[in-house]
Amino acid sequence: MAGPERRPVTECPYVPADLTRLIEGDAALVRCPFPLYDVLREQAPVTRNDRLNAYVVTRYDDVIEVLKDTDTYSSAMASGPNSVTGLANKLLADPATPAKLRAQAERRLKLSESPVLLFTDPPLHKRQRALVSAAFSPKRVKALEPEVRRLTEELIDGFLADGKVDLVPQFSIPLPMTVIATLLGVPPSDMDQFKRWSNAFTAGVGSVDQSAEDVAGIFDEVDTFYDYFTREIELRRVEPQDDLLTDLVAARMEGEAPLTLDEILQMLVQFLVAGNETTTNSVTTLMFALAQDPELADRVRSNPALVAPLVEEMLRVEAPVQGMFRVSTADSIIAGVEIPAGSVLWLVYGSANRDPGTFPDPAALKLDGDRAPHVTFARFEHFCLGSSIARLELRIAAELLLERLNDIALDCPADEVPYHRSFVLRGPASLPLTFTAR
Ligand code: HEM
Repeated sequence: MAGPERRPVTECPYVPADLTRLIEGDAALVRCPFPLYDVLREQAPVTRNDRLNAYVVTRYDDVIEVLKDTDTYSSAMASGPNSVTGLANKLLADPATPAKLRAQAERRLKLSESPVLLFTDPPLHKRQRALVSAAFSPKRVKALEPEVRRLTEELIDGFLADGKVDLVPQFSIPLPMTVIATLLGVPPSDMDQFKRWSNAFTAGVGSVDQSAEDVAGIFDEVDTFYDYFTREIELRRVEPQDDLLTDLVAARMEGEAPLTLDEILQMLVQFLVAGNETTTNSVTTLMFALAQDPELADRVRSNPALVAPLVEEMLRVEAPVQGMFRVSTADSIIAGVEIPAGSVLWLVYGSANRDPGTFPDPAALKLDGDRAPHVTFARFEHFCLGSSIARLELRIAAELLLERLNDIALDCPADEVPYHRSFVLRGPASLPLTFTAR
């Protein structure tokens, strides 16, 4: 890939202020955090950041060690202090919070008393994962393929004659959103609302400053989400349908309690957050790379067997989830740094994936031969439940976009492509492209 992330390990010293600027959403760093990661891995592989109130872990082997050890490193706070739950806690601690917002925050906190998947540890996590796995069976994923293909074709039809497109609103957002909504049985008429919910739940992930107005808006959306799906779940209990929601309601396991309403609601939030923005950003960064490298686009276009390795390498170098959080349950030591019990850790997957100790020439896309497994979908217990859905969408998107569009090029200078202001969910907010229809 072209671009500043090809720079070799920088020799300049690690400056803690740079990490703080990344966390505060500095535009240049959020867009390209990789040289900073290089310096961190070299000079401060485990470092405490006061702004984040967390230890930042950047080397591949250390990230793997933490992911493996679910006893010492709990997922109780996987999405960080500014997730909706984190915001709710802040609101309740502030005596100035108005009554309506206080009630909404309390509702949210009551639901987070039934943590699910991302935020749970074994043995509760094992029970939930087993119950939910049936709903994400290879059979259900396979059954999605024709719909993903149809939808991808339809989205391309929508802009093909124009010769240009802003890929984000016209393709990268609607594709995963419609797929996940289809999976949940949400009708197309409720799609706009569906996206507003997704935005509300992701707004706080990876940013540290929210205006009071933003927070109030987030909690209004969160409320309508819970009302809508409580109704839908009750409907499925009476009248089962062929969808994932019904699978969740019906999931049973010998000797284990079925999923409660609160657990199902919390799982839906996770599908929504984890399934939308992540896949959107992956599709966009993949096309951003192809638009900057016509030779690569031609190579893959003429050899579709390269689509899958291209998707995999793009997932590695441009991880849409740059890192997730853990909280330590006991004193521990990582890379020689003492971590007191109760500390928050930010595991920087985006850095681990470019660790030259594990991935030689880490910025290069290696389309032939093997690489070590990346950590874009994490590993072990919390390995992404939707990874096969995401891979399916990405493969079909890359295949059909390359098949139907020639001469794909950026419609603005590369450094003017705007990025979201999040240090966790990384990706372009807009991607103007030009092309010729094939
Ligand atoms: C490119 C797209 C995606 C990326 C990069 C991604 C990334 C991740 C990561 C990093 C984790 C582990 C979090 C941790 O370390 O604690 C995770 C978990 C999860 N993902 Fe994905 N994800 C993607 C797409 C999806 C999709 C399409 C769904 C579908 C609904 C999904 C559902 C989930 C769920 C439910 C979990 C929690 C699993 C558990 O804790 O047991 N993800 N994902």
